[in-house]
Amino acid sequence: MGKTAYDGTPRHLLCKRIPTPPFGDWNDRHYVDYDEYVATGGYVALRKSLAQSPDEVTEEVKKAVVRGRGGAGFPAGVKWTFLPPVPEGKTPGEPGAERYLAVNADESEPGTFKDRLLMEFDPHQMLEGIAICCHACKLHKAYIFIRGEYHLAAERLERALAEAYEKGIFGDKCMQNSDANTGGGARFRVDCHVHRGAGAYICGEETALLEAIEGKRGYPRIKPPFPAVEGLFGRPTVINNVETLCHLTLIMDEGAEAFMAQGVESSIGGPPSYGTKLMGMSGHVNRPGCYEFELGIPLRQFVEEHCGGMRGGKAYKAAIPGGVSMGMLGTDQYDAELDFDIGRKYGVLGLGTACPTVFDEDTDMVAVARNISRFFKHESCGQCTPCREGSGWLYQLLCRMTEGDARNKDLDLALELAESMGSMPGTTICGLADGNNFAMKTIIQKFRPEFEAKLQKTFVTATVGVS
Ligand SMILES: Cc1cc2nc3c(=O)[nH]c(=O)nc-3n(C[C@H](O)[C@H](O)[C@H](O)COP(=O)(O)O)c2cc1C
Ligand code: SF4
Repeated sequence: MGKTAYDGTPRHLLCKRIPTPPFGDWNDRHYVDYDEYVATGGYVALRKSLAQSPDEVTEEVKKAVVRGRGGAGFPAGVKWTFLPPVPEGKTPGEPGAERYLAVNADESEPGTFKDRLLMEFDPHQMLEGIAICCHACKLHKAYIFIRGEYHLAAERLERALAEAYEKGIFGDKCMQNSDANTGGGARFRVDCHVHRGAGAYICGEETALLEAIEGKRGYPRIKPPFPAVEGLFGRPTVINNVETLCHLTLIMDEGAEAFMAQGVESSIGGPPSYGTKLMGMSGHVNRPGCYEFELGIPLRQFVEEHCGGMRGGKAYKAAIPGGVSMGMLGTDQYDAELDFDIGRKYGVLGLGTACPTVFDEDTDMVAVARNISRFFKHESCGQCTPCREGSGWLYQLLCRMTEGDARNKDLDLALELAESMGSMPGTTICGLADGNNFAMKTIIQKFRPEFEAKLQKTFVTATVGVS
């Protein structure tokens, strides 16, 4: 049983090797190379993992309940158990026994900038997490799918990867030739490649990501079959986020308990929110930037104690908890705790990437809604009619509202349109449309009077115009 509320105690940080937490100085782009990484305890977790069987490592990760940091919060250890076994008598990588890891480094959710820092400053931490995952799940090849615009991160990853190959972390028989080799554990060749994206948000959706790695257009796939069974090139595949993989280093170095001692239990009888979380703050605060806290920190505390409060002494009005897809926290939800309970407790889709965008009292929420709907309209891949057509119509309705050309019935029409799209109502293939739905309906529901005031203004203008 962990803590019931955030208490801000000292913690193990993923960003411990990054010299200027909360990473405020963007010019100080320190790169932790292999030697520095090893000198500060790096690759010990991998050595410990290799001394255990894959099943033991998976059990430890399951015990830690490390929930995916890419947005959905699904426990990594449980996801790994969905993989079918390696066919009898075969070694991973042999024909008929290919098994892959797809690392989701697409990070295109608006307002989200945490994986980028992990890759730019301390790429070996993620590479170690990748090697641990490959050992636990018996995967012979990892593809890191990195957002196309992340030039520096991609360069540094390539550099770190070259070092890791040179030191025998990857390549022929994982860690067989490295200093960290203990002689134990199953050994087979593990390879790792960096695959650069071309700038489409949808490629962060896990099955679109697989299509993109295969060299196809980034169209999400209909599930089932799930990637654990039929993923990359039709073979069993694990998909994990950069930050999720980085957390494996603490779990395997110090044990699941060390991870579980951070973060909070659920206050509503749900699964726990253990561990720390990188949280990129943007919007109307004095000190935006990427911070790391234990899960459970209240938004108000984050803003007031760590970000220097609201910019210009203005009042807080609203916040997106972690990527626009999650929807909007209202004015009375400033005390919302940033943990995995947030969806059920505060009427948003979830914690998402836990990278909040905060808005002050002067913000025009109708304009915010229009901006977000423009994003979804632009990023819809177009496969499903409710998403393709609905996102276009929503954007048009919101343009009408902001431009003073809306009818009174347009507000409910927008709500109806939003609620009709998504994998949750069962009308679309992927969750992009659920993101659009939640963003639109939570902004309209929580700030309805603001929308109505615009409609009334429109009506008055129109009436005056007619008379
Ligand atoms: C439209 C859309 C975009 C997504 N973008 C990302 C992304 O950029 N990075 C990411 O890690 N997960 C993203 N996800 C979530 C992934 O589909 C998947 O849940 C995640 O990569 C699994 O890793 P995790 O369990 O370690 O979080 C996105 C999902 C959707 C529906
Ligand atoms: S929901 Fe939208 S983005 Fe997802 S597959 Fe359908 S059309 Fe494409």
